[in-house]
Amino acid sequence: MEKIKFSAELDVFEDRSKLPQEIQHLMSQAIEARDNAYAPYSSFKVGAALLLENNETVIGSNQENASYPSGLCAERTAIYYAGAKYPQKAINAMAISAKSLNREIASPIPPCGACRQAISEYEVNQEKGIPVYFMGEKGKVYKAKSIKDLLPFIFDKFNL
Ligand code: THU
Repeated sequence: MEKIKFSAELDVFEDRSKLPQEIQHLMSQAIEARDNAYAPYSSFKVGAALLLENNETVIGSNQENASYPSGLCAERTAIYYAGAKYPQKAINAMAISAKSLNREIASPIPPCGACRQAISEYEVNQEKGIPVYFMGEKGKVYKAKSIKDLLPFIFDKFNL
């Protein structure tokens, strides 16, 4: 029997002030989006910001609904917005921040599995990794250089 092993490395920044300038700015936009999230049911606010190759930034936040499954995560709100507004532009980086209204989140919050799958669609199409920077409300920021580091063995169009 053979074994297949997956491994990934993330970069860890002590806090957001240690990020490259451009990413600090992107994270600030994610934080602003987070604070405007519509999360009356979970009280868990998430913001995402995407930096595109044309230097435009696209943001998203989680949008909840009284019919719970109809809501959408911040990351997918942002990436679908980018796909709709700038369909031909590559995504150079993604920043994510999450905040709970019930407790302080001082460790990084990763994108959920469904968002990883959605992000992977765009990364596969642009044939270039999307670096993903994610944090809680404060504290450390983790960087994955590609969504594939967060979602190994992805299902993509080549499997169809
Ligand atoms: N949420 C996100 O926006 N992104 C994630 O990756 C994880 C979860 C949102 C969905 C829901 O509105 C709230 O956080 C609690 O799950």
